[in-house]
Amino acid sequence: MNAVEIRNLSKSFRGMYAVDNLSMTVPVGAIYGFIGENGSGKSTTEKLICGHLVPDKGEIKLFGKDFTDAGVRARVGALIESAGCFPNSSVWANLMMQALNLGLPNRAEEINRVLKIVRMEDNAALKFKSCSLGMKQRIGIAMALLGDPALLILDEPINGLDTDGMRIMREILVDITQNLGCTVLISSHILGELEKIATHYGILRQGKMIREISAREMDARAKVFVSLRTKDMQGAVKVLQKKFAGVRFEDEYIRVYDADDTEGLVRYLLANGHVVSEVKENKIGLAEYYIELMSEKEEA
Ligand SMILES: Nc1ncnc2c1ncn2[C@@H]1O[C@H](COP(=O)(O)OP(=O)(O)O)[C@@H](O)[C@H]1O
Ligand SMILES: [Mg+2]
Repeated sequence: MNAVEIRNLSKSFRGMYAVDNLSMTVPVGAIYGFIGENGSGKSTTEKLICGHLVPDKGEIKLFGKDFTDAGVRARVGALIESAGCFPNSSVWANLMMQALNLGLPNRAEEINRVLKIVRMEDNAALKFKSCSLGMKQRIGIAMALLGDPALLILDEPINGLDTDGMRIMREILVDITQNLGCTVLISSHILGELEKIATHYGILRQGKMIREISAREMDARAKVFVSLRTKDMQGAVKVLQKKFAGVRFEDEYIRVYDADDTEGLVRYLLANGHVVSEVKENKIGLAEYYIELMSEKEEA
């Protein structure tokens, strides 16, 4: 089943399309990285999913049901743009107000649960305004987690965080998907961070979905070459050339461009008397893939 299934969704503001005939599929259990330049329509799409905006046309299904279904609406938690907290109130009080707004039972228990998930259980008494940016973002996530949603929508939650803040956020998001069974839709333009956790990607440009790809597919197509070293480099090249067409000697390494099984490659060399002392798979990352995709579309 899919947590989100969007078909031909459009939304315009004063005649300009912010979201343009967009289709999108977020499988249950995914961490879906939503990527695109500023103004490409990420936040608008997220607001449409949350029902904060009314689409011009198109279909949005959440867990197989139309997104206007009240039962399914209650299963969506979101942090879009900012958490909307009261600066002079404590973390606890802010969460309590939200829990009251949502009409949740067992409010104190629920607040403790979400504080624990975002690792803020020791900071509940802090005033919101005294919290660091990283803490504020985590409070926003705690807010969105109230009521135990099945889908969590986070709009650029790692912007401006330091390395440590990003690491904590990463761990929290993995915990939420793996241990709470929650699906996460996260927009970001910090691709290096996103690729450490995302299981799927949707790449947006000028309101259009230009590519959806799973991390697994990405990984498979991302391997560019295997580089390796042996004692007798010339001899190893000769042996490799019997089996592979794309063998080059570059930067003190032998590069093999058309090997899809690195272990097999090492075994093949060993069987022919060459011990591999160093081996590495060279991949292009999400950032390079994104740039490649953007330039492709520009030319088209
Ligand atoms: N409420 C609004 N009124 C008018 N234009 C808007 C509104 N919200 C977004 N837009 C426009 O829609 C486009 C997409 O914006 P947005 O969804 O915020 O992109 P992103 O989140 O990817 O940066 C932008 O050109 C933006 O200026
Ligand atoms: Mg945005």
